[in-house]
Amino acid sequence: MSLTHHHVRAARLFRSELAVPGAQPKLFEKAARSAADAVYLDLEDAVAPDDKVTARANVVDALNGIDWGDKTVEVRVNGLDTPFMFRDVIEIVGRCPRLDLLIVPKIGVAADLYAVEVLMSQVEMETGRTNPAGLVALVESALGIANVEAIAQAGSRLEGLTFGSGDFAASTRMRTTSIGGVSGDYGVLADRDPDADTAGARPFFWGDPWQAVHSRLVVASRAYGLRPVDGPFADFKDGAGLLASARRAASLGFEGKMCIHPAQIGPVNEVFSPRPEEVTTARRILEAMQAAASTGRGAVALDGRMLDIVSIRQAEQLLARADAIARRDPAAL
Ligand code: COA
Ligand code: MG
Repeated sequence: MSLTHHHVRAARLFRSELAVPGAQPKLFEKAARSAADAVYLDLEDAVAPDDKVTARANVVDALNGIDWGDKTVEVRVNGLDTPFMFRDVIEIVGRCPRLDLLIVPKIGVAADLYAVEVLMSQVEMETGRTNPAGLVALVESALGIANVEAIAQAGSRLEGLTFGSGDFAASTRMRTTSIGGVSGDYGVLADRDPDADTAGARPFFWGDPWQAVHSRLVVASRAYGLRPVDGPFADFKDGAGLLASARRAASLGFEGKMCIHPAQIGPVNEVFSPRPEEVTTARRILEAMQAAASTGRGAVALDGRMLDIVSIRQAEQLLARADAIARRDPAAL
């Protein structure tokens, strides 16, 4: 192991993150009562330009007036290239002690975060805020992904990177209009079988167009102690598509996924929670490794698979996650 080690910046349960447009206050209470681990009130792309000022006032009222329980409460401010962001930061950071995190959209370079941090620090000094708000960078452009390693090392408030699928697709001109969905054009055609003359029978295997960029964001996040979170799957009537998308993200190491509709929260929470049989196996692995250590062995077999010291780390991580979930929702496991 390298002697360089970046500690986890902030451990939070973050399986599901519900997006709520700031211009629709009637949704706020519903979001607060939902099973989402985190809720973000949006001032950016879910709010029309004419509604920006009203939405900001709604969000200040909601952060101060609604009981958000133990949820992580976030606000997505407008981008650095708009006339709205500085006032968003002043109002939200300055007037809302309940705010946990600001989400900054379309981060392209590390200095974008520095600019926001300077502003946040001044507001906190002026208002005497005692609990500094954290930051999440939305990485959702070709520039942002090109600079993702530098962005991941920026500033002291940053605790997570979230991938934004819709803007990323627009930025790279991916040929898709479905946010977070897949494409029938992106796949692999099985080799031609010279012995078969049935032209139409060759299988076509759909590929995951997000794999490369997902992997890059997860690696950059984990290298620097940040929490990687996947972007939304906009087709909220397609439950099977959502599950597949969430499972792919969880397999790669994402800690959670943005949700745009309450119906997505339950399935997403489930995907990002360890399954009961995984918890049982993790406990057995720790027992087996303890027994192995007492006989001086570092590697043993359990159910026909090799275990070694790394198995202890994997099992401990899974159990820590299960414990955090059990603390949030004792009935969940
Ligand atoms: N937060 C809280 N409650 C929500 C919600 C949300 N994001 N989205 C829907 N609901 C509520 C509705 O108010 C409705 O409640 P009701 O049964 O008490 O009337 C219920 O859930 C079912 O909603 P439904 O009718 O299926 O959805 P819709 O057609 O009204 O809205 C969307 C669909 C996608 C427009 C809406 O879900 C939405 O605005 N999502 C968030 C979009 C966003 O923030 N995007 C930016 C991030 S990518
Ligand atoms: Mg976006």
